[in-house]
Amino acid sequence: MLALFVMGAFYTFVAPASKVSADTGNSQQVAEGKALFAVGCSSCHGLNGEGQATGTVQGPPLAGVGAASVEFQVGSGRMPMARPAAQAPVKPNRYSEEEVAALAAYVASLGPGPAIPTPAEYNPANISEEDIARGGELFRTNCSACHNFEGAGGALPGGKYAPTLIGVSNQHLYEAMITGPQQMPVFSDGVMRPEDKRAIIAYLNNLHDQPNQGGLALGGLGPVSEGLWAWILGLGSLVGFAIWIAAKGAKAK
Ligand code: HEC
Ligand code: HEC
Repeated sequence: MLALFVMGAFYTFVAPASKVSADTGNSQQVAEGKALFAVGCSSCHGLNGEGQATGTVQGPPLAGVGAASVEFQVGSGRMPMARPAAQAPVKPNRYSEEEVAALAAYVASLGPGPAIPTPAEYNPANISEEDIARGGELFRTNCSACHNFEGAGGALPGGKYAPTLIGVSNQHLYEAMITGPQQMPVFSDGVMRPEDKRAIIAYLNNLHDQPNQGGLALGGLGPVSEGLWAWILGLGSLVGFAIWIAAKGAKAK
């Protein structure tokens, strides 16, 4: 018993402080968020965010998804979802910044989850060329399987897709990594250090700011679009040339 007690006491002392916080906003903000939630979200997520697994409008339980997930989902316009579908599409966000913060504070009050990151957390600062290259390596190993090597996005089974990462804000890049929407894995700080997440963001910014030295990128979709162009332009011009020769050649005369 004594050994257990000593171990327990020792653990509480040395255990790393949890990065998640249950209550971020003040109680007034939480109350405002609860009211907004009842109007815009409860039809699918339940009056208390407990979720709804049956019926035509369904939504997952929200306890523990965290403020970051709400900022990501509502800020990117995915939520409130307009109609049941395999995946919520990105659309213009209808809520003001204060309303999003209130909704986030309310959902955060339901259970501990990742908090909304601060600009210092998601904006890469003093980034070196070396970090950008490291970000590229991390991107190719962890993200390109779904989002394509250029971040142009790609299709997934079941009518779902990994969206393009071109034009996505640094904040949403970071939030997507810490919350893992849909089939995307969660890249928590234990899995990928915050500085590695910033390196990936720096790499993507750098990649998408670059002029296209090679000319037409054909959507950056890789061999499929490139092959299609080779067929249409390459083979098409050969056929055209053959017809031209046949029409103008010695035998035609
Ligand atoms: C028409 C039904 C519907 C409405 C309305 C709706 N949601 Fe959702 N919500 C869903 C479904 C379905 C999912 C899961 C699928 C997905 O993530 O694309 C989801 C997922 C989420 C998630 C991600 C949960 C996670 O596991 O990370 C959050 C956060 C969320 N909703 C918040 C909201 C908020 C806040 C509102 C109101 C502004 C709202 N939703 C309105 C159906 C809805
Ligand atoms: C298993 C496939 C998969 C992997 C691996 C993956 N993602 Fe995703 N990602 C998705 C899917 C699916 C969505 C769309 C979720 C939704 O719409 O609810 C998404 C959404 C995103 C978004 C939101 C884009 C927007 O338009 O708002 C960002 C940013 C993102 N991912 C970044 C990353 C980064 C960075 C990595 C690597 C560290 C990564 N993803 C790895 C599948 C994946």
